[in-house]
Amino acid sequence: MASFASSSFSQALRTASRRSSRAVANAAARPVQRASYSALSRAAVAKSAAQRTHVKGARGIKTLDFAGTREVVFERSDWPLAKLQDYFKNDTLAMIGYGSQGHGQGLNARDNGLNVIVGVREGGESWKQAQEDGWVPGETLFPIEEAINRGTIIMNLLSDAAQSQTWPTIAPLITKGKTLYFSHGFSVVFKEDTKVIPPPDVDVILVAPKGSGRTVRTLFKEGRGINSSVAVFQDVTGKAQEKAIALGVGIGSGYMYETTFEKEVYSDLYGERGVLMGAIQGLFLAQYQVLRKNGHTPSEAFNETVEEATQSLYPLIGQKGMDYMYNACSTTARRGALDWAPVFEKANLPIFEQLYESVKNGTETRKSLEFNGRSTYREDLAKELAVIDNQEIWRAGKVVRSLRPDYKPESE
Ligand SMILES: NC(=O)c1ccc[n+]([C@@H]2O[C@H](COP(=O)([O-])OP(=O)(O)OC[C@H]3O[C@@H](n4cnc5c(N)ncnc54)[C@H](OP(=O)(O)O)[C@@H]3O)[C@@H](O)[C@H]2O)c1
Repeated sequence: MASFASSSFSQALRTASRRSSRAVANAAARPVQRASYSALSRAAVAKSAAQRTHVKGARGIKTLDFAGTREVVFERSDWPLAKLQDYFKNDTLAMIGYGSQGHGQGLNARDNGLNVIVGVREGGESWKQAQEDGWVPGETLFPIEEAINRGTIIMNLLSDAAQSQTWPTIAPLITKGKTLYFSHGFSVVFKEDTKVIPPPDVDVILVAPKGSGRTVRTLFKEGRGINSSVAVFQDVTGKAQEKAIALGVGIGSGYMYETTFEKEVYSDLYGERGVLMGAIQGLFLAQYQVLRKNGHTPSEAFNETVEEATQSLYPLIGQKGMDYMYNACSTTARRGALDWAPVFEKANLPIFEQLYESVKNGTETRKSLEFNGRSTYREDLAKELAVIDNQEIWRAGKVVRSLRPDYKPESE
C-alpha cells in the first residue's frame, strides 16, 4: 500500500518516528558487536519467539490452506539472527532512497546486524532525515551512485517515479554479481512506461511489505513482523528466492507470501485505489453528505460515518472477521447490514472491474509517473491533501477526536 501523509497526522507520526529513530541512532553509535543482536532486536526476537509458540508448526516454509486454496508462506523462524548475519556477512545492503520504506527497512536491517548503507541525493530532504537517524556521511550515507558502487544488494527504494527517472544513470552501475531488489513490482512490470529493464545477469527480487514503512519499523520494534509479499523476477544464481526470503526477514518481515512481480503490483495498485484508500474516502464522503443534506449535524454525521467505524467496528473486523463484527451489533443493525451489503456490492462491482482494468492496462502507472515525476510533486500533493484536510467531514473529525479520552493535543 502506498504511504499517505495528511498534514497533522503525518506530522505527529513523523515526530514520534524521529524520536524513536534518534534513540536507535544513539544505540547505533555505541560499539556494535556484529555477532550479537542489538539490544533492540534481541528483545524483539525474544518477544517474537514467545509469540510464535501460539502458531503451531510455524517454522520455515509452510503450505497453508487459505479458504480452499493452498499457498506457500515463509516464516522468519527459519532465519535465526546468527544464520541471517552469517548469510549476509559478505554483503553490503545499499538502500537507495530514504522515504517511508528506506527508513523502516534500513533501520530494521541495521538493528538486525546487517551491513547497511544508504544512498540518496546529497543535501536533499532524505539526506537530512538519514543523518538524523544516525547514518553517517562517508561511512554509511552516500550519494546514490556511490552507494550503488559500494553495495552488493541494491535495494531500490526510490519513489516509483524516481526509479524510472534515475534508471538511465543507475542501470550501468548494476553490474554482474550484484542483486537488484525492489519493494514494488511497478518499475519492472510496467517497463514500457518506466523503461526499467534490469540487466540480464543479476538476480532481481522483491520484498513488498504490506504496510507503510513506519509500520515496518513499529512492528519490528514491538517484536512482531509485518506481512510481506516475496517474488523473483530473474534468478541467475539459483539462489534468488532464498535471498529474497532472507532479505524479507532482514528488513523486518514476519510472514512472507509467495507471489509474482505482476500479481504484486496489480493487487497493490488496485487495493490502495480501492477499499484501502480511494474507495473508503469516497464512501465516507457520500454517506456524510446525505446525512448533512437531511439535517444532521456535522458531529452526528461524522460519528455515524467515521468515528464509530474506525474506533469501534473496523477493529472488530480486524480481530475476528465480518461475521464477528455483525454478531457484536444489535439485531436491528445486523438485519440492515445484511440486507444492504449486497446492494453496495452490486453497485460497486462495475467500478472495481473498471479500476482493475485501469491498473492492468497501465493507465494508473502512467498517471502516477506523470504526477510523481514532476519537480513540484511534493507541493502539488500538499495542495490536494490540504483540500481534504479542509473538507467539513475532516474538520468536524478534529473536534470529535479532541473529545476522545486518550486525546493528546500534539497529535492534532
Ligand atoms: N510507502 C509505502 O507504504 C510502501 C509500501 C510498500 C512498498 N512501497 C514501495 O517502496 C518503494 C519506496 O517507497 P517509499 O514510499 O518509501 O518512497 P517515496 O516516499 O515514494 O520516495 C522517497 C525517496 O525517493 C527519493 N526521490 C524522489 N524523487 C527523486 C529523484 N528525482 N531523484 C532521486 N531521488 C528521488 C526521495 O529523495 P529526496 O528526499 O531527496 O527527494 C526519497 O528518498 C516504492 O517502490 C514503493 O512503491 C511503498
